Amino acid sequence: MHIVHVAVEMAPIAKVGGLGDVVTSLSRAVKDLGHNVDIILPKYDCLNLSNVKYFQFHRSYSWGGTEIKVWFGKVEGLPVYFLEPQNGLFSAGCIYGCRNDGQRFGFFCHAALEFLLQSGFHPDILHCHDWSSAPVAWLFKEHYMHYGLSKARVVFTIHNLEFGAQLIGKAMLYSDKATTVSPTYSREVSGNPAIASHLQKFYGILNGIDPDIWDPYNDKFIPVSYTSDNVVEGKRAAKEALQQKLGLKRADLPMVGIITRLTHQKGIHLIKHAIWRTLERNGQVVLLGSAPDPRIQNDFVNLANQLHSSHGDRARLCLTYDEPLSHLIYAGSDFILVPSIFEPCGLTQLTAMRYGSIPVVRKTGGLHDTVFDVDHDKERARAFGLEPNGFNFDGADTAGVDYALNRAISAWYDGRDWFNFLCKGVMEQDWSWNRPALDYMELYRAARK
Ligand code: ADP
Ligand code: GLC
Repeated sequence: MHIVHVAVEMAPIAKVGGLGDVVTSLSRAVKDLGHNVDIILPKYDCLNLSNVKYFQFHRSYSWGGTEIKVWFGKVEGLPVYFLEPQNGLFSAGCIYGCRNDGQRFGFFCHAALEFLLQSGFHPDILHCHDWSSAPVAWLFKEHYMHYGLSKARVVFTIHNLEFGAQLIGKAMLYSDKATTVSPTYSREVSGNPAIASHLQKFYGILNGIDPDIWDPYNDKFIPVSYTSDNVVEGKRAAKEALQQKLGLKRADLPMVGIITRLTHQKGIHLIKHAIWRTLERNGQVVLLGSAPDPRIQNDFVNLANQLHSSHGDRARLCLTYDEPLSHLIYAGSDFILVPSIFEPCGLTQLTAMRYGSIPVVRKTGGLHDTVFDVDHDKERARAFGLEPNGFNFDGADTAGVDYALNRAISAWYDGRDWFNFLCKGVMEQDWSWNRPALDYMELYRAARK
């Protein structure tokens, strides 16, 4: 089958959050199953081109009175076509955050379909994502389906319903099949007006992570390669390197890591509370995060300064986006905290487990589907053929996060052998695309019937 993703993020060259990871890792998994996958992406001026192989000019065409240059290259082994309209729409120095984002991505979707048509592509599936490539769904059904692209079917994936509800509603209407990124989130949003009348074509398919991109045995950003067999040594070395890099002094304390966009979705008040609670419980904290909203960013800068003077030996907030540092935190932490208010899937808890770090999460969306509490979820885990793998909590008040964190930190102090066994166990769980890629293939086939 030939699948074309039209997307505005792609890891590692144009990543803001999990959407970028999913476009790359789902495509790689489907390609590994023997299918043909292409990706169409805007050629942002801020692309990280050092990660693009064989980058070259491909062709140019015009649409809407604008010349569009097309560049080709390979990213993580995947063929990518980069569209560069000569009207400067993607020369803003950023992926999102322009006042005319709607216009920028609307133009891109139109240009992508035009490129497929003018280049004689005949994909079986057009896969679009979130509000930013939602226009592909109706542009295709209203126009391009009647021209040369008639063979294609449209699959639309909602990664986050919080943004662009109107565009998402239109794509839900026009797509042949639609998904969101976990079963629990699909139930949580099933009453939403954009979705409620399309439930017959709407599925919750859990995201996976790419085990080759996130691999503690082969990761240039961590000091010692490890698998589940030497998880204790590997994580000890990573923790030491992390402590040294950030100037933290207490390698003898449990480390809570937080890697996140700092937005309302991620439970800002719970994150702040958890930082203080961890310090009270004789733990240490590293947070890697950046806030698109300058007020939130400022707030965290103040907190970072406060912590630096009160707990400088065991708390560090790194208020930036830093891919290499994220690898070291996944490996060097004992726990990764994800107290989201809502979370369509969440990838950080899955990556944490791949590196033998124990997730502590709020029970919502994909966090609920992937983290099974060691004290409360034995039965639920075993129904999926799994052992419990973390700590979770309900509610959005501080009592919930306290409850989970207290148990997690006590477990670290009280039962070292048991804790190490838990770390080894979570590393051996399979949160890759092995299973979900098959679910997507089934969905693609169903879309074509
Ligand atoms: P979302 O897409 O809602 O941000 P996900 O958990 O799906 O949440 O994906 C977040 C991705 O972005 C993960 O790969 C995570 O490691 C990465 N990430 C988040 N914040 C940062 C940061 N400040 N620096 C580096 N990577 C980050
Ligand atoms: C969104 C969601 C996140 C999900 C990611 C990838 O950004 O917030 O939960 O994991 O998309 O699907």
